[in-house]
Amino acid sequence: MIELDNVAYSYGGAELLSDVSLKLAPGSFHFLTGPSGAGKTTFLKLCYGALVPTAGQARIFDQDVREMTRDDIAISRRRIGVVHQDCQFLDHVSMAENVAMPLKVAGRDVAAEQQNLDDLLSWCGLSSRANALPPQLSGGERQRAALARAVILSPDVILADEPTGNVDWEMSQRLIQLLVELNRMGKTVMIASHDLGLIRATKQHVQARVLRISNRRLQLAGADL
Ligand SMILES: Nc1ncnc2c1ncn2[C@@H]1O[C@H](COP(=O)(O)OP(=O)(O)OP(=O)(O)O)[C@@H](O)[C@H]1O
Ligand SMILES: [Mg+2]
Repeated sequence: MIELDNVAYSYGGAELLSDVSLKLAPGSFHFLTGPSGAGKTTFLKLCYGALVPTAGQARIFDQDVREMTRDDIAISRRRIGVVHQDCQFLDHVSMAENVAMPLKVAGRDVAAEQQNLDDLLSWCGLSSRANALPPQLSGGERQRAALARAVILSPDVILADEPTGNVDWEMSQRLIQLLVELNRMGKTVMIASHDLGLIRATKQHVQARVLRISNRRLQLAGADL
């Protein structure tokens, strides 16, 4: 699905990531950890084609990112749902419309998907906030909405960047449960998270590999995690 071969990335100075190789197999579940600034968000951007490696090769659905046009990237993005760390909403339209935006962009009939949208908002505990504008939402509500938006198109791959950073334990469990269920349906999931407690709890329910970025490299974390 997504394959990195000896990938390096630098924003202009020294390499932030070096010699990173990974194959994201269909249906796999990964956590991505590492200290703040280690390059987790950068790594996820390489996985969905927002950044092009400065060395090595990244392939998304068997296409080399370097050879992909903007249209190719846009099409592949319909199959990859991304939960951005900073959410990235359109502030002048309601939260529900933001969540439904990928449907609109993909040319789908939003009215026909209303029940699907309502169910998803309800699952994320957001039904009563559907008409609020993003600036009126709490940090946790924003994160839940970002997750809902990432999964509304039922993508094959979900890349979630700290999706539970601002939510309480119970809600973080619920959000992860949604990702676990999507994984059981065959979706490939990768979650960047600092929360080792959450990772441990999730590993009771799903076979997850834990990757760690440390000293520019991507490593498989030990089984003790
Ligand atoms: N557009 C950019 N231009 C230059 N440097 C950048 C850019 N984006 C990120 N960086 C730098 O690259 C490093 C890695 O950033 P990144 O956001 O990938 O880390 P992270 O592991 O996601 O951190 P956090 O846990 O705080 O979210 C940081 O030192 C950051 O300042
Ligand atoms: Mg980050």
